[in-house]
Amino acid sequence: MSTTAKKFDERARGEFGRLGTTRVRRGELLRHPVHTRFLHWSVAISFILSLLTGFAIYSPWLFHWITPVFGGGPRTRALHPWFGLVFEVFFLFQFLNWVTPMAWTEADRRWMKKMRSYVTNDDRLEPEDVGFFNGGQKLYFWAIVVSGILFLITGLLIWFDDVVERWIVAISYVIHDIAALLMLAGFIIHVYEGTAHQPGTFRSMMDGTVTERWAWTHHPAWYRLVTGRDPRDAYEREKRRQEEER
Ligand code: HEM
Repeated sequence: MSTTAKKFDERARGEFGRLGTTRVRRGELLRHPVHTRFLHWSVAISFILSLLTGFAIYSPWLFHWITPVFGGGPRTRALHPWFGLVFEVFFLFQFLNWVTPMAWTEADRRWMKKMRSYVTNDDRLEPEDVGFFNGGQKLYFWAIVVSGILFLITGLLIWFDDVVERWIVAISYVIHDIAALLMLAGFIIHVYEGTAHQPGTFRSMMDGTVTERWAWTHHPAWYRLVTGRDPRDAYEREKRRQEEER
């Protein structure tokens, strides 16, 4: 991150720290501070608005129920690029906020090889080297970065279609639509992972905290880093405690 971006990021953290608080109780860890949650939900809302208006333009026949919500067909068409731009701006800040923990590592390459057991819930605990984000989360993040760049370039070419050649606009439509479909697929998987597949994850984006048990189960290396304790020891201790209770 450049020094200017870093300074801006630090200032934003300070400002948001004053605007909201995160209460971390006993047995919990801070996962996402206020500014991260604000950025995440701003990205999410602008993304969903772009998606809805985009689909209404893509297939007015199939998505005719969407246009009245935005004030009719022409207004939906006019709003779409603006929602898209708002998404791009918020995601740029989210990018600066997360680019460091999203760096790809050897552990992520190993995680990708074991993705099957993650999806099928074969292992009770994630591998010990999984840090703040796992390989799948990082993949989703970088897919948004690539799609975001493609959306911006092709979106501008479609918006100002009188300044470039016709064939360039035609190709832009195809790329824009493919990127949107890939993002939709990623979004569906993301919502499932953040809610039903991993109970206890959703609250991290609401009140900012997770339980220690969640941390040693899903992100053991991050648990070790922030608590200084061994995640497997913590798991064994909790297992013994539960057995004794029974
Ligand atoms: C509207 C439904 C959504 C829900 C319920 C949701 C939930 C969550 C949760 C709980 C996390 C934290 C995961 C963790 O700490 O391990 C998260 C992270 C994240 N969210 Fe969302 N989110 C939603 C929409 C979106 C949208 C629309 C985008 C972008 C287009 C997005 C992008 C991300 C990214 C990049 C991360 C970090 C990586 C990851 O956890 O996959 N989210 N989300």
